[in-house]
Amino acid sequence: MKSSFKGLAAALALALGGVSGAAAQTDAERLDHGKGLVETNCARCHAVGATDESPLADAPAFRTLSERYPVDALEEAFAEGIVTGHPDMPEFEATPQQIADIIAYLASIQPH
Ligand code: HEC
Repeated sequence: MKSSFKGLAAALALALGGVSGAAAQTDAERLDHGKGLVETNCARCHAVGATDESPLADAPAFRTLSERYPVDALEEAFAEGIVTGHPDMPEFEATPQQIADIIAYLASIQPH
């Protein structure tokens, strides 16, 4: 799953003209990073992809979060610990960069 997404991201980066050693992260790299973070930290309960079902029925699929929140508001929710304080959730301390990448990934899977 992870490696096939990496392949896709690499293919996308190529299709978009390559990364050519630029210092700034490309969008594809940021999304890849954000997806990796949620796969590692969230996917055992939440659906983190575009079509999968949450392994834990109570945990909302991430692609439905925009039905409850503007995705931008999640950044604040992370910062205030709303998101990181829910039941059974493992301690997850994210750096601002990690949060930004997770938000970018979450935004990318919202249906609208
Ligand atoms: C051990 C299971 C588990 C893990 C791991 C987990 N969650 Fe959750 N999450 C839940 C459950 C259950 C709910 C629904 C109950 C609730 O809202 O308190 C939830 C709700 C949420 C919500 C909606 C909160 C709301 O107020 O509506 C967000 C956003 C969320 N999780 C983000 C994450 C993120 C991001 C990660 C990974 C960093 C993560 N969760 C990891 C179980 C989990």
